[in-house]
Amino acid sequence: MLIAQISDTHILAPTADHPSVELRADCLRQCVAEINAQQPDAVIFTGDTVQTAQVEEYEYLRELLAPLEAPLYVVPGNRDDKRVLQAVLLPNGPLSNVPLSNIHKGNANLPDNVDSLQYVVDEHAVRLIAIDSTAVGERKGVFGSERQSWLETVLSEKPRQPTILFIHHPPFDVGDHYIGGYRRQEDADALADIVQRHPQVKALLCGHVHRLIDRAWAGSRAVVMPSVAVDLRKDVEEATAKNRPIYMLHQLSDGSDLSSEARIVSG
Ligand SMILES: [Fe+2]
Repeated sequence: MLIAQISDTHILAPTADHPSVELRADCLRQCVAEINAQQPDAVIFTGDTVQTAQVEEYEYLRELLAPLEAPLYVVPGNRDDKRVLQAVLLPNGPLSNVPLSNIHKGNANLPDNVDSLQYVVDEHAVRLIAIDSTAVGERKGVFGSERQSWLETVLSEKPRQPTILFIHHPPFDVGDHYIGGYRRQEDADALADIVQRHPQVKALLCGHVHRLIDRAWAGSRAVVMPSVAVDLRKDVEEATAKNRPIYMLHQLSDGSDLSSEARIVSG
């Protein structure tokens, strides 16, 4: 199974007074085109889709994502507003006057006033589990007891099914750049503990810190991708990337480990 990942696009409204309006839109546009050429089975989007959670930003985001051919699965980042995200992006959301039939809600029974936008996708060879690490007004990660028991329950349902988790906030420190990223350290520890006890989890894919990290974690593996927005990414060798946006391709085959590749969009 081939999974493409995008993250931290921080899309701005076309009318915003900001120098990066077109730059960020272009980064996403180019990633979408290249991802279509790769024909992945699924695309995951690990949050911070827009900059300030305004409706106009989400409408622009929807327009930029519309050409995507593979099914898209989104988790919110701390910059997202879950309600607006759903309202604008979901096929039957109240603001969805442009049909986007390939954006999946995952769980059709989510209430409108959803506290946690998390869901399981069982329609591919690899099981995908979207985990919400956001809370209103909170910049740091949150993974409280309700979310913990939900994850425990869904992982216990299919203990032999290769599974990939995706979430916005990495549940571990990243050098000096990202320390104590969860509001409560117990939340991050709980996530590691759950994954440790469910060896079918092949990887946790994250965003948020805008840099590339690939490491062992909780008896499994964690991959953090750079921001798609080139003006916000960190530690990318610009001599190589030349300001081109980066997306990730993750390949998982039967009996093998996940192979992940940061792909620089060709100029
Ligand atoms: Fe971000």
